[in-house]
Parts: sequence; C-alpha cells; structure tokens
Amino acid sequence: METLKLLHARQAVRQYTGQLTDEQLQTILAAGNAAPVGMGNYADYRLIAIQDPQILQQMSQIYAAPTVIVVAARQPDTMTLLSAGIIAHNLELAAEDLGLGANYNLAGLASIPHKVLPAGFTAVFSLTLGQTTQPFTPRQIPADRIKTKLIK
Ligand SMILES: Cc1cc2nc3c(=O)[nH]c(=O)nc-3n(C[C@H](O)[C@H](O)[C@H](O)COP(=O)(O)O)c2cc1C
Repeated sequence: METLKLLHARQAVRQYTGQLTDEQLQTILAAGNAAPVGMGNYADYRLIAIQDPQILQQMSQIYAAPTVIVVAARQPDTMTLLSAGIIAHNLELAAEDLGLGANYNLAGLASIPHKVLPAGFTAVFSLTLGQTTQPFTPRQIPADRIKTKLIK
C-alpha cells in the first residue's frame, strides 16, 4: 500500500482470525528494525515475539491475540519510551500493510511473564497481532482532529 494511503487506512484491530505466517512475522520484525531510535542506540532495545499459547494465556487484555510483540528497553527514560513507540508504530504499519490486524497495547504490559524478558530489560510497549477479515480502506479523518496552530 502507498504510505499516505496506509496512514489513513490503518486502524486498531482487536479481533483476530488466525496466526501470522513465519514470513509475515519476519517482515514485521524487519520493519521494527528499520525504526529510528534516540542516539541510534539499538542495543538498548529488544523485540520479543510471543506466540507460545501457554505464555499468551498468562497475559491479560491482549484480545486473545495469537501473537504479541513486546518492545523492551534497558532504561525506560523519555527518549527510550518515545523510541519504543516509534518501533511499535513501524511494526503496526508493516502488519497492516500486509493486511494483518494489529493494535498497540499498554494494558497487557504488566501481565507479561518476567521470564520472557532478557535480563536488564523492561517491557515498555507491545503490539497484538493476528490475521483479520477487517478491510483496510482510507478513513475520513478530520484534518484538525489534533488541534493545530500554524505559525508562519
Ligand atoms: C500509546 C498507546 C497505547 C495504547 N494502548 C492500548 C491498549 O492497551 N489497549 C487497546 O485496546 N488499545 C490501545 N491503544 C490503541 C488506541 O486506543 C487506538 O489507537 C486509538 O483509539 C485510535 O484508534 P485507531 O488506532 O483505530 O485510529 C493504544 C494506542 C497507543 C498509541
């Protein structure tokens, strides 16, 4: 999908009809790796893709998603949190460009079992993903939905 069209068609999808293929997962993870992060410190982040049903069952508020990708950070300061959001946005846009359903998820963070996190890393954001029957067509979004001040 063209980028601008995708930006208007993307949406939070919370109902999933099946698991991603391994190829789809790799494409999404590659998009996450293409994200910019503050100071270019990529070593300060980890992506953890969870598809193990036993682990997913222990997590709450993830809408029975068959895949959850966790963005973990070494030091959750402002720059790191912003970077994690951008990484997650890349993941989300890539998923929906592939016609998959995806949604950002903060609510389930506290229920992520600690054993899935690398030592020294904290889960700061996550994404729920799965197949969807939801169509993606550009939405009519008011240009002033976010009130804007133009200074020139
Ligand atoms: C930082 C952030 C955290 C979010 N956390 C959750 C969440 O925990 N659960 C959820 O269902 N949606 C979550 N969302 C999705 C938003 O509710 C959703 O993106 C917003 O309502 C706009 O809808 P849209 O994505 O369809 O445009 C989150 C979005 C962002 C950006």
